Amino acid sequence: MSETATAVTEAVTRALAAVDDAALERAWRADHEFVCLERWLPASLVERLVAEADRLRPAIHRSFIPRHKKGGSVSFYTLREQAPTIVALYRSPALLAFLSRLTGRALQPCPESDPHACALYYYTEPGDHIGFHFDNSYYKGARFTVLLGLVERSSSRLVCQIHKDDPARRRELALATDPGTVVLFNGDKLWHKVTPLGDGEERVSLTLEYVTDPRMTPAKRFISNMKDAIAYFGFRKVFTRRA
Ligand SMILES: [Fe+2]
Repeated sequence: MSETATAVTEAVTRALAAVDDAALERAWRADHEFVCLERWLPASLVERLVAEADRLRPAIHRSFIPRHKKGGSVSFYTLREQAPTIVALYRSPALLAFLSRLTGRALQPCPESDPHACALYYYTEPGDHIGFHFDNSYYKGARFTVLLGLVERSSSRLVCQIHKDDPARRRELALATDPGTVVLFNGDKLWHKVTPLGDGEERVSLTLEYVTDPRMTPAKRFISNMKDAIAYFGFRKVFTRRA
């Protein structure tokens, strides 16, 4: 095992040892497949992830969709070439086993051709934000998001609306995604947004996406690629760098 993979395994194992599996599973189910673990991943690992995110700043692709989104991102294609710790975390067998236990499903990473499989998001200019949305699955199965805070020097908040379609149980949380904080959710169930960045602020997060069935119809693959090209990574990246 490489030094990077060993460091990731050790950090994930240490983080998992602090988790009460039964209590976490109860919270996950009660909140419609959502849970937040504050400052969960060890600082030693977060520092390595932040160093990779910093090195990749020249590769940031910025996009702007009026009234919905403004911000920068780096796709899985670039991470695969230049961010070994991030990719090792994404593929960590210990993390995958934990997520499969929590969700009660046999999860797997997205196919190599998905630029969103794991990706970095940079909020660096005043007003950077994303409006309310689901992380809808275009796959045949469900898609689960692991959102990890890396840099949090901002007044932006990840606003999460749990049980959006059930007024009796609806609940809204405004979370700071501090370094090491992990938010786990079913992309089809959690209605969420990131509020606008203030002057002189910065927020960087990493998302890891896992699916129960990696198959996708060609029509949905096309829609998914168009969305990724326009809203996130640019046409050149999405349509010429396929694995
Ligand atoms: Fe999202």
